[in-house]
Amino acid sequence: MCGIVGYIGNQQAAPILLDGLSKLEYRGYDSSGIAVYNGNEIDMVKSKGRLKVLNELTHDGATLPGTLGIGHTRWATHGSPSDINAHPHFNKDKSIVVVHNGIIENYLKLKKKLENHGYEFVSETDTEVIAHLLDYYYHGNPLQAVTKIMHRMEGSYALGIIFQDHPGELYAVRKDSPLIVGHTDGGSILASDVPAVLKYTRDVFFIENEEIVRMREDSMEFFNVDEEPIEKQATRIEWDVNAAEKSGYEHFMLKEMYEQPKAITDTFSPRIKEGKIVIEELGMADEEILKIQKIQIVACGSASHTGYTSKYIFEGLARIPVEVDVASEFRYRDPILDENTLVIVISQSGETADTLAALRESKEKGARVLGIVNVVGSSIAREADNVMYTWAGPEIAVATTKAYSAQLIALYLLAMKFAHVKGMLDEAGLAGMLEDLKAIPAQVEMLLNNKVNIQKFANRYLAARDVFFIGRGIDHAISMEGSLKLKEISYIHSEAYAAGELKHGTISLVEDGTLVASVLTQKDLYKKMISNMEEVRTRGAFVMAVTTEGNTEVERAADYVIYIPETNKYFTNSLAIIPLQLFAYYIAVGRGCDVDKPRNLAKSVTVE
Ligand code: G6P
Repeated sequence: MCGIVGYIGNQQAAPILLDGLSKLEYRGYDSSGIAVYNGNEIDMVKSKGRLKVLNELTHDGATLPGTLGIGHTRWATHGSPSDINAHPHFNKDKSIVVVHNGIIENYLKLKKKLENHGYEFVSETDTEVIAHLLDYYYHGNPLQAVTKIMHRMEGSYALGIIFQDHPGELYAVRKDSPLIVGHTDGGSILASDVPAVLKYTRDVFFIENEEIVRMREDSMEFFNVDEEPIEKQATRIEWDVNAAEKSGYEHFMLKEMYEQPKAITDTFSPRIKEGKIVIEELGMADEEILKIQKIQIVACGSASHTGYTSKYIFEGLARIPVEVDVASEFRYRDPILDENTLVIVISQSGETADTLAALRESKEKGARVLGIVNVVGSSIAREADNVMYTWAGPEIAVATTKAYSAQLIALYLLAMKFAHVKGMLDEAGLAGMLEDLKAIPAQVEMLLNNKVNIQKFANRYLAARDVFFIGRGIDHAISMEGSLKLKEISYIHSEAYAAGELKHGTISLVEDGTLVASVLTQKDLYKKMISNMEEVRTRGAFVMAVTTEGNTEVERAADYVIYIPETNKYFTNSLAIIPLQLFAYYIAVGRGCDVDKPRNLAKSVTVE
């Protein structure tokens, strides 16, 4: 999952490319590079490290003249992050240059073939194969060369390509990696994602699989793999450009945590009408809901944690059995699905390759697929049978917060809807739950305002080596997210454990001072949880607890307690996660970590 950009027009390309890359850095940031045609030949500058290195090397693009160029920000897959492996990549006489997002799965075979024809490789990347393969098939007709390589390459790719002897053209092509293009004032632009082009245009074309674009300063043509022209319609992007700026917050993550009340409200309010839950986009009549025998949830990372939470809610409220799988495992276990299974795929970006593959597998097996997606027009949104958007707005920090919170809300709405249709939740029950749901944004806000206390507490644990998060039932699902938040941004090892399972092995890791964060929001499990907390405390652990107001009994087993307001037992995740997000955030800040761009990670993981 890298970010690609390209520009052709009447402006200097390099500053536009660098600006676009700055909006795509969330897709990968271990190295970056740009290539610009200077009127005579193609200049290239690339470097290991963050984009700021490239800005310095090129004086913010000023040193690269020319109005046609491509750029790349990388998250290494083949070949370590280095100057050489950074994109763009040239063919042998530097007349063709390529940027690539994706993975060419048969690159070794293609590399061998090209080496047999005398091609020499300088990098360890799969992408260099593309540049040489284009060279091999190029006989003066760029479109033909592009379609030829499409027939030879297996895997995923979004490419930006310049042919030096066609300096009035910029080519782009896509298969299984996101790509958008648009007209600017006096030019054409391409990118992996919308934020990179928003400054220049709001009308974008989403490129579909195996489509090719030929861009010129004043025109844009689309072709299929048979080189036949095709028609495409632009989509108007309604986002607020400021939504992708930090607006005075120190980090995007903090800003996005503060946007949670709004993300939550925006996700539920259009779907509650006159005391009823109305999810038009679900596209299912009540009779179809009644036919659901099983729900299969598939997602990655934090999105999968919302799935684990919702399992307790769908099963508890609507009595529908739920299986939850991480997407990377799902399709390799030959899952049992049929037309009575509702598959719910959850994804902020809507581009996660594993989740997309799971979606396709599910459709092939005859199941109906509902996507819960944040990014409008993304691949998962387009390929799912139905899509329910989370209205969290653009999320930039790699560690998700507001999209996670909005996903929970979407799942609560679905579970309540299904339970109501099945007659398991009566009018009064539904009304009570909706009241609790509507109170969540203000409660989240109140918890966020407690940040100073959590920061003080976090500062005591900056040197922690291991942290355990424990909980039972829904609280175990919350623990999983609390633990992931901490480890992904602070680099402190942490694990989430079902509280009762800890004693079956992992408790041997608990020693004097080990921090154990315990989540106990479920009244019927308080006593059991307190026993588990005592087990670790007697072995020297420092026990932090997140529990519901009124549960003062917990204070006998905990060293530090954070209270959350009372809410419906199924909604506690939305509140308990807030102090855990703040805790992870302040630990990371205190340790001097790059909160918004943690090492080795990327926000949108478009490789399997
Ligand atoms: C990456 C991110 C995680 C995210 C996961 C799923 O690994 O670093 O924060 O939860 O992808 O992303 P998605 O866009 O599908 O929700």
